[in-house]
Amino acid sequence: MKPDHVMRLKAWFESYTQSFMTGKTPIDSPLELKIEHTARVCDNICQLGRSVDLTDGQMCVAETIGLFHDLGRFEQYRRYRTFNDRQSANHASLSIDVINQTGVLDRLTDDEKTIIIDAIRFHNAPGLPANKPSASMLFMRLIRDADKLDIWKVFADYYRHHRLPEPAIVQHLPDLPTWEESIVNAIAENRMARFKDMKSLNDFKLLQLSWVFDLYFPETLAQAKKRGDLAVIARSLPDHGILHHAIGIISDRLDEAVRSRPDSGDGVSKIAISR
Ligand SMILES: [Fe+2]
Repeated sequence: MKPDHVMRLKAWFESYTQSFMTGKTPIDSPLELKIEHTARVCDNICQLGRSVDLTDGQMCVAETIGLFHDLGRFEQYRRYRTFNDRQSANHASLSIDVINQTGVLDRLTDDEKTIIIDAIRFHNAPGLPANKPSASMLFMRLIRDADKLDIWKVFADYYRHHRLPEPAIVQHLPDLPTWEESIVNAIAENRMARFKDMKSLNDFKLLQLSWVFDLYFPETLAQAKKRGDLAVIARSLPDHGILHHAIGIISDRLDEAVRSRPDSGDGVSKIAISR
């Protein structure tokens, strides 16, 4: 891929997404937020891509994945008026449907298309598939890390402004002064907590913190620490010893990853974390 391909795809994305706008602010503003999220995920994936020395062509593929990973959100919202996949449809599958139906990637090579579609398909999956070629795995990891960085930012911004996230985006979980032992235990065992264990907003926050165990690139951990979004989410949790301990584990994970990051001389790490 070349940069002018990406420019063309950006112009297409702009006109495609604008076609969903109604001119009514309450209806359009959730879509505007998705457009802003997309722009930041594009920036994130390029930042991560540069940290592992992607070629110019690979950078274009990475940016296209960022641009199109949530394409299905627009059709999802038009059809169901929600971004909750459980109450509507898997938005990654919808993104791929839109790509196939519009033929927007038809000028790319088959290999490029396969990589882009694989990365979009698994960007929101609980885990990565086992049987994909390494070229696809690299881009799947890039988009999953890039997306998480922005999801943390979106939620941290709510807590920075002392606001509660929209009920729909936290699965209508109640804001109770409680938390689930299974979620805290997952953090103690250095693994991601499970969606199905969540019963309160605190569980949702803890689950998001546990994503640090699902990051792949050292640059993602470095950015997570530098941007401070995880610290803001952590500070919005109740003041309790059990939670302090869990937060300490998350914080140690960030510190340790940043400390053990091989310094390439330009402050950019070249090696992915072994898992
Ligand atoms: Fe998504």
